Amino acid sequence: MTEFNILVATSKHIEHAEEISQLIELSAAARGTGIAKRSIAYIRNKIEEGKAVIAISEKGDFAGFCYIESWGEKFAANSGLIISEKFRKMGLAMRVKRKAFELSREKFPNAKLFGLTTSLAVMKINSELGYRPVTFSELTDDEQFWKGCQSCVNYDILTRTNRKHCLCTGMLYDPVEKYKHQRKKFQDYKEKYGQWLKTKADFLLKKFRKNNT
Ligand SMILES: CC(C)(COP(=O)(O)OP(=O)(O)OC[C@H]1O[C@@H](n2cnc3c(N)ncnc32)[C@H](O)[C@@H]1OP(=O)(O)O)[C@@H](O)C(=O)NCCC(=O)NCCS
Repeated sequence: MTEFNILVATSKHIEHAEEISQLIELSAAARGTGIAKRSIAYIRNKIEEGKAVIAISEKGDFAGFCYIESWGEKFAANSGLIISEKFRKMGLAMRVKRKAFELSREKFPNAKLFGLTTSLAVMKINSELGYRPVTFSELTDDEQFWKGCQSCVNYDILTRTNRKHCLCTGMLYDPVEKYKHQRKKFQDYKEKYGQWLKTKADFLLKKFRKNNT
């Protein structure tokens, strides 16, 4: 089985920028979305900023890519996820996206992470990472982000519905909500553990009394 190195991209990976840009364009055309052309310069810039994750096969071939976009400190997204065709369906996208997710959490610890997608694979990956489906109203209202939809063949649906609905599903990871959820889980666990300790203490006390009367 092929081994992959999944790492934060550095200047030595800039040589792959052209291939990445072409792959993203070709796959968008194949899916018929017409969305999201990322120029070579844009990809290069993301790599130079330390905001990209790359997967390289053991033979040194490009295998996968994803980068971070951010809007102030409040919102960030992991975009441009692409896996080279010959390495698909091996769980690589999950690994690349997880690395990009960890990098985003490190760089923007307070930001909500979000994405728009029609891809079942991406929905599965996002759910695994703790994202949940949301209405578009919960996503950023930054015009720059929504401008990215202009090249999509479904853009008329988005404008017709006043940016409320389209074919994509919005997904969001909210660190505050996640923290609250984890806190609640911990409280429930603490409560149950307390009850269990009490039951055990009662049982031992009963046994002790029985043996000492
Ligand atoms: C979508 C893409 C990134 C998936 O890459 P991958 O490495 O094959 O995905 P993984 O092997 O990590 O699979 C992740 C999950 O998605 C599922 N999956 C993968 N490809 C799928 C597909 N075409 N249809 C439905 N589910 C799919 C896998 O079964 C897995 O689910 P599981 O954990 O329940 O088994 C890859 O096909 C690709 O680069 N496509 C073109 C670009 C693209 O569509 N990017 C997303 C833009 S939003």
